[in-house]
Amino acid sequence: MEGERAAASETEGRTWAGAHFDALLESPLDALLVVDARGRIRRVNARLEALLGYAREELLGHPLDCLIPERYRAQHARDQAAFFASPRARPMGSGLDLFARHKSGAEIPVEISLTPLRAAEGDLVVAAIRDLRERKRSAAELARLGGVLEASLNEIYLFDARSLRFTFVNEGARRNLGYTTEELRVRTLLDLTPLSHAELRALLAPLRAGARRSAQLQTLHRRKDGSTYPVEVHLQYRPEGAHPETCLEAEDAGVFVAVALDISERVRAQQALRESAQRAALHVEKTPLAVLEWRLPDGLLLAWNPAAERLFGYTADEAVGKLRAEQLLVDDDPALRALLAGQVAPTGERGTFRNRTKDGRLLLCEWSSVLLTDEAGRATRGAALVMDVTARQRALEALLSAQEEERARISRDLHDGVGQALTALGLGLNAALDNPTPEALGALRRLVAETLEDVRRISRDLRPALLDELGLEAAARRFVRELAESSGVRVDLLVHLPERLTRQQEIVVYRVLQEALNNVVRHARAAHASVVLTATRARVQLTVEDDGVGFDTSRPPTDGHVGLLGMRERLELLGGSLRLESAPGRGTTLSARLPLGGRDART
Ligand SMILES: Nc1ncnc2c1ncn2[C@@H]1O[C@H](COP(=O)(O)OP(=O)(O)OP(=O)(O)O)[C@@H](O)[C@H]1O
Ligand SMILES: [Mg+2]
Repeated sequence: MEGERAAASETEGRTWAGAHFDALLESPLDALLVVDARGRIRRVNARLEALLGYAREELLGHPLDCLIPERYRAQHARDQAAFFASPRARPMGSGLDLFARHKSGAEIPVEISLTPLRAAEGDLVVAAIRDLRERKRSAAELARLGGVLEASLNEIYLFDARSLRFTFVNEGARRNLGYTTEELRVRTLLDLTPLSHAELRALLAPLRAGARRSAQLQTLHRRKDGSTYPVEVHLQYRPEGAHPETCLEAEDAGVFVAVALDISERVRAQQALRESAQRAALHVEKTPLAVLEWRLPDGLLLAWNPAAERLFGYTADEAVGKLRAEQLLVDDDPALRALLAGQVAPTGERGTFRNRTKDGRLLLCEWSSVLLTDEAGRATRGAALVMDVTARQRALEALLSAQEEERARISRDLHDGVGQALTALGLGLNAALDNPTPEALGALRRLVAETLEDVRRISRDLRPALLDELGLEAAARRFVRELAESSGVRVDLLVHLPERLTRQQEIVVYRVLQEALNNVVRHARAAHASVVLTATRARVQLTVEDDGVGFDTSRPPTDGHVGLLGMRERLELLGGSLRLESAPGRGTTLSARLPLGGRDART
């Protein structure tokens, strides 16, 4: 009795109220269904009609079964009986996935809560049916989104607006940082970046206040192992927070979303670009070549390096934006005009032109030109490396004339020496035929020997065959020994040549040695000379010193005396130099230097 009364009082007040109840039935958001203890449908609302596709008339008074998927009907009948045996408001089938059957036969996932109702016509139950499709869809969508976030290569962080604690950290971030989810749960952005608390707050405040939609910054992220890498971080604020399923914890409705991009590569590339630009600028500053750039098609100068200042005499201020490239040139030839107008092969062109300096000097310069193009590939500027080849040209000319001089001297030697000797020999032979005395024949034999020696000397001067066969060191030793023997001058020789020289270099050094020692023998009246010939990787050095009469080196050599000049020119042609120290009565020191390796050495 007690129990029955209690059960009756629980449903009291929820009595059937006819039309009044109908109005109530139509207001809620859920689809509602009223069923009696026999399982017949007694009331439905409009939402239920819409949800399950039936018109009200099709349902009222009919068994509930049509709304239940067939496979659940038997179970449902048992559950229903149990419910009416002990009516109590509760969710239906808690923990189970429930489905309602649409008129079309389709099954709709639903959530149902049951409320008992006592009415005049008997016990009823009100079933509130909630369509779960939308929620399921959004849950699936969220799970999918979560997966995308998780898999993103970017680092993605959600952090609580108040505590700044991370509520979600994706895999990309964990991998980059080397932290586990648990380790990150107790950290904030402040542990990952060098940002101060104040700086971070200053960044976040306008986002949280809605004054800005997003913020972006470049900073560093510190890995668990302490190393850092540059990142670009995009920050946003979501006032509604994140869905609990994707969160580690949700302390506040509002969260910040930080997406960080590892920009190590970009930073490296930028750095490399900056360095190469700096290097290029350095090269342009330091190169001994003049570097010019001019605008197309009018040729107005746009760039002018220090070497260009030195070569042409105009400062950058005087040249850039004021001179046109053609004003540097003397001749007006079509090839040149094409070059300045940018009508050259994109790979560049090279030409030698006469140039005029600011102070009117003429220079012969080699121009190596290229076209510079804009992003669209149009040639907008011309650029050239300009090298002064005046000296090279002069040296070449000098060499040619030195060769001519040398030939003239050989011709003289042949004519005056060998020719005379052979003439004398002919005459002597004639005489000896008439009167072959041993004295006459002996004199003739001596003359033949001397002439032979002359021929050998000329031949030796012409082409140092020993040099080819033995190399510089042995040839130098042989030459010095022979010269010392024939002249009576004592010559010390020190040779140390660890580096190989090119044939060109060997010939030049050998020629300089020959000429220097010949001068000692011919002019110095020295008792003693010393020769030191050494080489390092960088250069070969020859010093020839005598204790003779010396001479005034400032006096220009008289015509026909080309030995010293020839030496200097041969050396300079290979990038070397000659130095003379001498004074009357104080002997002479000659030093020759020649760089080894490099481009000049092979020209
Ligand atoms: N070692 C030396 N001691 C003293 N005088 C020297 C010495 N070397 C050169 N001279 C002087 O310098 C001059 C120029 O020398 P250079 O070799 O150019 O011509 P050269 O020897 O007179 O003629 P060549 O053209 O045959 O060499 C010489 O004539 C001589 O007066
Ligand atoms: Mg000489």
